[in-house]
Amino acid sequence: MWGWPRNGRGVARAWERKGRSRIRGGTKCANSNGTNPRRNDAMERSPHAGNVIASRFALEREVGRGGTSVVWAASDLTTGKHVALKLVAPQEAHDPVVNDRFARECEVLLRCQIRQVVRAEATGYDQTHGFFLAMELLEGETLEQRLARVGVLSAAELRCVAKDVAKALSYLHGLGITHRDLKPANIFLVQDGCGELSAKLLDFGTVKLGENADRYGRTEAGALVGTPSRMSPEQARSLPIDHRTDVWAFAMVAFEALVGSQAIDGTMPLGQVVLAVCFARLPVPSQLNAAVDHRFDAWFARSTALAPQDRFDSVAAQWMALSTVLEPSASSAHRLGRAARRVRTVLIDATNTMTLPPLAPRRNVGTT
Ligand SMILES: Nc1ncnc2c1ncn2[C@@H]1O[C@H](COP(=O)(O)OP(=O)(O)O)[C@@H](O)[C@H]1O
Ligand SMILES: [Mg+2]
Repeated sequence: MWGWPRNGRGVARAWERKGRSRIRGGTKCANSNGTNPRRNDAMERSPHAGNVIASRFALEREVGRGGTSVVWAASDLTTGKHVALKLVAPQEAHDPVVNDRFARECEVLLRCQIRQVVRAEATGYDQTHGFFLAMELLEGETLEQRLARVGVLSAAELRCVAKDVAKALSYLHGLGITHRDLKPANIFLVQDGCGELSAKLLDFGTVKLGENADRYGRTEAGALVGTPSRMSPEQARSLPIDHRTDVWAFAMVAFEALVGSQAIDGTMPLGQVVLAVCFARLPVPSQLNAAVDHRFDAWFARSTALAPQDRFDSVAAQWMALSTVLEPSASSAHRLGRAARRVRTVLIDATNTMTLPPLAPRRNVGTT
């Protein structure tokens, strides 16, 4: 059966009413048999290929995994179409905050009607596997996977990707929604029939709706929401945020795509990451990758100003400025071509001698 409970907290309460509150002790709480009820429960609920969710979606294979969810390719038995089915990870199923966020993600995605945001097909609740979100099944790879594979994007590729991301963000901001977790793992790259690169925004679990606490009533004051190394300073300080937090993150994504490493190394201890973010201690892009145009340095500095009011006022304005920077002018095309050849040569040398390439290696692949 599938229905739609009011929100995640409603689900968590329903589970407690069914007597599951005995597992409240968490993963360390073993019962008298020495087994861990929460872990057993998670294993029972762990989805497998062949499982049918809500009598409708037959799971086929896992296509992705985030911090709190697993995404499957599934067949919609009512239409015969293939979809991507996102489920809360079994070990998170009892966390009301996670369920709240999942419900909010479903609600936001159903409202979004723009090609640059992944399309939601259906949402609901399955007795065994909890909330689900059926989306269009995207073929391709995330920007994170692409960068892990090829190192950097060319200016032309970044133009295509950034244009779509900017459109998606502007659309959300127009609805009063801030994404709050923009990063390469949440940007999916799709190649159209003509080989043109386009991008779709994913993962709306941490969106902020409107000015105040969201209508699910759960205050997030003091909570760190997002991915620390990509957070804006105000987000890292748990101060009020607005769309300019996405302006910051958009710049971090562009940096990573052109330079080939994160502006703030997410593998550092959390305290160091937060300090670097809070004081906006950021590198100059062209000093890390000589192929990067100096105009990008200026664009990046403005996008990542410590005070939100010193940044671009909107993603649309930010994108306009970036598109000029990435425009293929004769001199920069020559510069980029020359520098790209240099990077390729060093990479080949590095492979031959088994030493690390000069660009900082991407060590945070797989995080969400
Ligand atoms: N519609 C989709 N089609 C194909 N793969 C997807 C789709 N949505 C998500 N994924 C894959 O699943 C991963 C995790 O999804 P995401 O929504 O970011 O989960 P989380 O909220 O847990 O971070 C993504 O990085 C991507 O690789
Ligand atoms: Mg994600």
